[in-house]
Amino acid sequence: MALDVPVLLLALFFSLSVSGNAQSKVPAIYVFGDSSADVGNNNYLPDIAKANCLPYGIDFPHSRPTGRYTNGYNGIDFFARQMGLRMSPPPYLSLPKNTSNRVGVNYASGGSGILDSTGPNTITMTKQIKYFATTNKSNIVLSKSIFLISTGANDIIAFVPNNMTPINTQIERFCNTLISNYTKHIEALYNLGARKFGIIDIGPVGCCPFARRLSNHSGACFNVMNDLAVGVNDAVKTMLSNLSSTLKGMKYSLGSYYAAVSNMIANPEAAGFKDVQSACCGGKSSADCTPTATYCENRNEYLFWDAIHATQRTYEEAVLDIYSGSPPFVTPINFKQLVKE
Ligand SMILES: *[C@@H]1O[C@H](CO)[C@@H](O)[C@H](O)[C@H]1NC(C)=O
Ligand SMILES: *[C@@H]1O[C@H](CO)[C@@H](O)[C@H](O)[C@H]1NC(C)=O
Ligand SMILES: *[C@@H]1O[C@H](CO)[C@@H](O)[C@H](O)[C@H]1NC(C)=O
Ligand SMILES: *[C@@H]1O[C@H](CO)[C@@H](O)[C@H](O)[C@H]1NC(C)=O
Ligand SMILES: *[C@@H]1O[C@H](CO)[C@@H](O)[C@H](O)[C@H]1NC(C)=O
Repeated sequence: MALDVPVLLLALFFSLSVSGNAQSKVPAIYVFGDSSADVGNNNYLPDIAKANCLPYGIDFPHSRPTGRYTNGYNGIDFFARQMGLRMSPPPYLSLPKNTSNRVGVNYASGGSGILDSTGPNTITMTKQIKYFATTNKSNIVLSKSIFLISTGANDIIAFVPNNMTPINTQIERFCNTLISNYTKHIEALYNLGARKFGIIDIGPVGCCPFARRLSNHSGACFNVMNDLAVGVNDAVKTMLSNLSSTLKGMKYSLGSYYAAVSNMIANPEAAGFKDVQSACCGGKSSADCTPTATYCENRNEYLFWDAIHATQRTYEEAVLDIYSGSPPFVTPINFKQLVKE
């Protein structure tokens, strides 16, 4: 029972006094991206992998599955908390039609990518931005609001099975396609009034249990995927620097989820991890995290929750590195500075 206390406090923190954001440091947060950021949009979509059954959400207040692809809170929840919001912005598809929401809106959809061809049945990035365009934002100062984007891993997951050993020209073409589309998305948001971007890069996706199974070296990280992530992340860094010099008033902070998670894998003890390779839910076998899957008891000691996604503990730690941290975890300014600017 003692274990429930911190979770409960956290729950109170997020859910108490939804009215009045006295502590909020930002007018609103608008969230875009994939399952690392989804807080329930996919629950409203047909024919798509959802996280709406236990054990997903087992460490969420009241052990409630919400559509978050983890055991409790995800990274967006921890960012929202750092920014003084009492609760994470709600999923767009859960909202009554066109009322202005004072904490912001989350458009993220598990399975989506930078490319609309990645996860065609999800809310694609283009569609997420279209939804934002028609969202009622009355009484919100957009230029001071934070636009969080966490995407790209699924583009790699979709690309690799057809390109197990990509040659340089294929890698280059892949990166260029992602970057031209990513550029288009950021410009679209800018044209709709966004100025402050908090971008979260692609993690070491080759080290997740799903990717380790694809590797020929049993259990090792699948470096093809990690190399692609590094390549795309480097290009995103240049892209943002380029964009901020041409888009007047654009400010950004680039959080390196890649650096944060790599650091946790290299130094598990520092974050209290005992297992940074296998999934808490589904384990070392190739089992998915289904309602009948077995899952670990010591969830704070696992980096990975299921075959692809991190535990709440991992997200919490990564957000600490990114929110008020320094390079290599966040550049050129951290999220805290972005909020203050
Ligand atoms: C936008 O939201 C505000 C506040 O909720 C509401 O008063 C207004 O009627 C809404 N506008 C439209 C066009 O629905
Ligand atoms: C919602 O309201 C805003 C005005 O607040 C309006 O511009 C927008 O078109 C509306 N969207 C929908 C889907 O009705
Ligand atoms: C976006 O990606 C598609 C492939 O999915 C590609 O054809 C297109 O050239 C890319 N760039 C832009 C700006 O749309
Ligand atoms: C695994 O090894 C086989 C045979 O050597 C090779 O064809 C395949 O491309 C390798 N796969 C990866 C992911 O390296
Ligand atoms: C950044 O700008 C330079 C100079 O205009 C250009 O050559 C390069 O392709 C751009 N890179 C990205 C990733 O946008």
